Amino acid sequence: MLPQIPGKSYPNEVCLNGEWMKPEEAQISVFDRGFMLGDALYEVIPFYDGKVFALEEHLDRLKYSLSQIRFDFEVKKLVPFILQAVERSSYAEEDAAVYLQLSRGTAPRTHFFPQSSEPNFLVYSFPVKLKDFEQRSWRLLLAEDIRWHRCDIKTTSYLANTMLNDESHRLGLDETLLFRDGKITEGSHSTAFFVKDNVIYTHPEGPEILSGITRKIVIDLCRELSLDIREESYRLEDFENLDEVFLTGTTTQVMMITDIFFEGSKIFSRPEAGPVTQKLQKAFKEKTRNCQA
Ligand code: PDD
Repeated sequence: MLPQIPGKSYPNEVCLNGEWMKPEEAQISVFDRGFMLGDALYEVIPFYDGKVFALEEHLDRLKYSLSQIRFDFEVKKLVPFILQAVERSSYAEEDAAVYLQLSRGTAPRTHFFPQSSEPNFLVYSFPVKLKDFEQRSWRLLLAEDIRWHRCDIKTTSYLANTMLNDESHRLGLDETLLFRDGKITEGSHSTAFFVKDNVIYTHPEGPEILSGITRKIVIDLCRELSLDIREESYRLEDFENLDEVFLTGTTTQVMMITDIFFEGSKIFSRPEAGPVTQKLQKAFKEKTRNCQA
């Protein structure tokens, strides 16, 4: 019997290297480089009412990550399995997400990338509550960003992210907001946006953050709505008189933030979603619910 976590479940089936099977039947070598070295990439792709959303953008980001780690792989070959993952599930017309992981594969352990290894890819779907996100809110812990300097690569090597997320989890909070050199980078698994004096700020793309797909969608929505969006990092010293904070991500969508804690004190509080967050939540909802497969 596999270990269980309340509220979480294992999928009934997974696709390993193009074949569907029960999770307990899926096996890869102990010499898989993803297992040994974290030499692996991943994506989480959302499905609204059973329809895939922003698939091209997720594949393009995977291509980018592959190019950064000098890993040759034709991402197009993953598409049928991504679509099958939801089609084959019992929630094919509901909200869901697909987890996709790609490791460089099996080879004797080396610190350099092997010339030849057989990549391993894993695909499965899981149900996710995407509806009514605007009625939920999160409380955050602020902590120093201890991650590496290539956060733009969507690697499964998330030990630093999970160490940071676990700090907020242990305090009964929802996510950890990160800062480096006095500036907010992002969340442990989300992108951060700040609103002050009707200007919206989010960290520019680059090695300090993951280029969130939802980040890009929300920036485009800001422009469509003629909101003043600036891709500039938000400074800790500007937390005073901060008006609104929201986080974005594939399953996070556009999440209002009610409280931020730092070193035992509350440094931000806003019990209800502010006008900018509300506007963007509404626009985001319209965009995702009207998507075409
Ligand atoms: N996390 N920043 C980090 C560090 C992330 O891990 C994520 C996504 C994001 C938001 O990216 P996107 O909008 O493309 O989902 C930003 C995924 C969903 C996860 O780890 O499950």
